[in-house]
This record gives sequence, structure tokens and C-alpha cells, in this order.
Amino acid sequence: MIYFDNAATTWPKPIEVKKAIASALDEYGANPGRGSYDMALKTSRLIFETRVELAALFNIKKPERIIFTANDTEAINLALKGFLNPGDHVIFTSLEHNAIYRPLKALEKQGVSLTMVQAEPDGTVFPEMIARAMRNETTLLAVSHVSNVTGTILPIENFAQIVRPKNIKVLVDAAQSAGFLDIDVEKQGIDLLAFPGHKGLYGPTGIGGLYIGEGINLRPLKEGGTGSKSNSWEQPDTLPDRFESGTINTLGIAGLRAGIEFLKNKGIKKIREHEWNLTKKFLQGLAEVEQVVVYGPKADAFRAPVVSCNIRNCDPGEISFMLDKMFSIATRSGFHCAPLTHRTIGTKDSGTIRFSFGAFNTEKEIDVGLDAVKEIINKLEI
Ligand code: ALA
Repeated sequence: MIYFDNAATTWPKPIEVKKAIASALDEYGANPGRGSYDMALKTSRLIFETRVELAALFNIKKPERIIFTANDTEAINLALKGFLNPGDHVIFTSLEHNAIYRPLKALEKQGVSLTMVQAEPDGTVFPEMIARAMRNETTLLAVSHVSNVTGTILPIENFAQIVRPKNIKVLVDAAQSAGFLDIDVEKQGIDLLAFPGHKGLYGPTGIGGLYIGEGINLRPLKEGGTGSKSNSWEQPDTLPDRFESGTINTLGIAGLRAGIEFLKNKGIKKIREHEWNLTKKFLQGLAEVEQVVVYGPKADAFRAPVVSCNIRNCDPGEISFMLDKMFSIATRSGFHCAPLTHRTIGTKDSGTIRFSFGAFNTEKEIDVGLDAVKEIINKLEI
């Protein structure tokens, strides 16, 4: 199989990650933060060290301000539902995934008001538009770092420079950027950073996290056992315990730590260059096929390794099916959980076929992918 669905989850996982997960059941089999015997302490240490690794990756000063969650969506829900109150106003863009848009729509019913900033058809969001959307009661800008449909990279640092002087906090959804772009919460002005562990960080599914900036107090999404202050019926105030009730995903964290090690050893920059070269090659190849329409930034503009396209007059689901059945090429088709983006780029009724590349894809695979697209066009006599 040729796997071009890395925006959904990266695959294959590095060998180090597979080994770390396989041995974690034996090595880190205890429930961390509960017992005080050797294996329990060792397991707690694994979790602490992984927080420290993540903190270094995103330039977070206090690792305890990183909360482990089941995934990026849970992290976003914790940020939005823990932060917003009736009467608050939130700005977001028309590139948001449902992970942001659906919780916001639920909060709207509770009295939170929303302004959507319309992106250009290529995914560009002008910072002036963010400035124009600000109101006295705006408390949050919730924005994706990278569109999961077009691969457009948003200028989050510019946005933060506009809104933060007005005491508006910035929530960044790093679903497609964590592990691909450099993220520095201090430099980029990020107050809340939600990230998945299983995409660009190369960990397994079932693990993600939320960084909560200094001075931000969130309501927990859940209360329960934390292993700390156990004889009190009040949820502890201390971080990360306040938000991590219940037994934590130790296997996922062991895999995530190995994923971060893999990134560090290979070099994020090197992986980024590799994926960008593949993306460029693919875009250049598609540009030569007149029946193909590509969405998103201009072909030579830097973007994340996510390419959405369509073959004129064809259903993207059918093309994705043919790519799989005829060529064993895995892609995603449809709306990619981002209906607002499809309204923005002009594909609200059809969706797109999405090709997304990862560290393990090769130039040869890109050639095979391009030939497959051409063969399908010939077969369908388009
Ligand atoms: N959000 C993931 C994607 O874009 C699952 O495919």
C-alpha cells in the first residue's frame, strides 16, 4: 500500500514507537501517581519526562501546564468549554475543523457569541480581518495553525500580535502543524495550544494534549481520582492533576515519547523539507494534468504536506475508491470534517480528494500517485 493519508494519522509509525508501545505494558505496567513502589514511580517518571520533552518542543516554561488528553479534539473541548462564559465573544476562521466549530456552536446555545472571519478561496486569512472582528466582549481567538483541507499555513503570530494587546487569548489548534512546523508558544503568542500525539508527533492514536498558558484558569471537563489530595472531595487546584482525572494513557504516552525522540533524531527541519519536496513534486505533476483542479495556496507557496484536489466532473469518493482498489493508494475523500473550509474553497457539495504526505513517503511513491491519477482519467475517458 502507498499511504497518502498522513493528515488523518501518520503511518507507518517509526520502529522506535512500535517497540516503545510493545514494551510499555511490561515496563510501565503500573498506574502512575497512585502506588509508591518501583514500577509505579517509573511510570510516573515516564509521564513527567514526556511532558518535559513536549515543553522543550513547544518552548513551554512549565511542563505541568501541559495536560494529557485523549486527542486534539478533547484538548480543544477542554480549552473552549473550560474558558468561555455566556456573554463572551469568540473569533474563528472559515478554515476551522469541526473540532473547533462544533463545540463553538454548542457554546453559542449557552450565550457565547461567534464571529467567523472569512478566508479567501486559497485559504488566506488577512490579519486585518481578525482586527475588524474584535469587539469589547471578545475573549478568545480560536484558530487552526494549518488547514487540514488545503494545507494553508495561517500567520498565527500576526494574529496574536493584533488580539493579545486587547486581552484576547489565543487558542491554536495544532492538529496539522505539531511536529511539522516550529511552534514556540512564547514567540508566537499562544495562550492555549491543542495538539494530537498521533499525527506529526508520530505517536499512537489515543493521546493528545493541551498547553494552558500562565494566568489562564479553566474549568475541568471531568472530575475524579487524581492520586493526589485523595481524602478531599474537591478537585485539586494543582496542575496537571486538576485536568487529568482517571487512569492516564500510559501506553500512548510511551509511544508519544518515542515519537518525539524520532523527530529529534531525524530533525523536524529535515522531515519538513522532505515532505515539502514531495508536496512540490506532486503539485508540479498535477499542474500538468488539465482535468485536475487543485485547491489551496498557489503551487509554489509553502504549505503543509496536504493537497486537496478534484478531477473535473468526477465524484472524489469514486476517485479515492479507484486509487485504493486499482493502485492500493490510500487517500481521504469527502469533507474532511471541515465543512466551513469547503464553503470557502468552493467544494461544499462535492468535497475533495486529499493526498497528505509523511516522513516515510518517497519520491517514487509520488510518481506512482501521479501516474495513477492519469490512468484513472484515461480509464474514465474524461
Ligand atoms: N482531522 C483529521 C483529518 O483531517 C482526522 O483527516
